[in-house]
Amino acid sequence: MEKKRIIVAVDGPAGSGKSSVSREAAVALNLKYIDSGAIYRAITWFLIKEYGTVPQGKGFSGDLAGLRISQVFKKDGFCNTYVGDTDVSLEIRNETIAKNIGKVSDDPGVREYVNGLLRSWARDNSIIMDGRDIGTVVFPDADLKVYLDASVDVRAERRYNEYLESGKNVDLNSIKKQIIQRDIEDTSRPFGALKTAEDAVVIDTSLLSKEDVIRTLVDLIAPL
Ligand code: DC
Repeated sequence: MEKKRIIVAVDGPAGSGKSSVSREAAVALNLKYIDSGAIYRAITWFLIKEYGTVPQGKGFSGDLAGLRISQVFKKDGFCNTYVGDTDVSLEIRNETIAKNIGKVSDDPGVREYVNGLLRSWARDNSIIMDGRDIGTVVFPDADLKVYLDASVDVRAERRYNEYLESGKNVDLNSIKKQIIQRDIEDTSRPFGALKTAEDAVVIDTSLLSKEDVIRTLVDLIAPL
């Protein structure tokens, strides 16, 4: 019998650990991992390159015609994002992108473009995709929806440690402020706002190790 295609949606706020646990669950279960936030980041990268900054109050859908964004997920767990032939995976993680991304992800034309791209990438594969509106907007019929959450302090500390590990010198308090600001932006945008799907499994990861969360996710997906 042909294996059924499965769609797993993992949503949650910044720093809830979505991407690292989704990636590792994908490796363990031989699924394709798709990082939807990286697409919004890549578009922000592109607009900054074009305009020098992201202009306020402008619609960006016209800028996206002809834009080639792609993502390659490798079996070792690496997920690289490209704009044209340029690998932007590292650059899209910087603070300038984080500060400007709200203006880009609020744009309904951009969201429509990204949603189309994400759905087309999922067409022929069993996937696990993380983001903010995957279970509510992009795949409302997903086979499994998971909502990962954690307290603001725990999420700020995780981001802080990630920056430290990558050699960046940052201030924990300013990271916390950024997370709070991003929560406000993510939950209040008129389209694609972060919210818990009614049929999502909600996991508070504040007191859980990464391994615990991966195991829980794998146990939820395996029987599908
Ligand atoms: O997951 P991330 O932190 O890389 O996402 C960066 C931003 O992209 C996030 O603050 C809001 C936006 N985003 C979104 O609006 N919808 C998604 N499905 C994923 C990300």
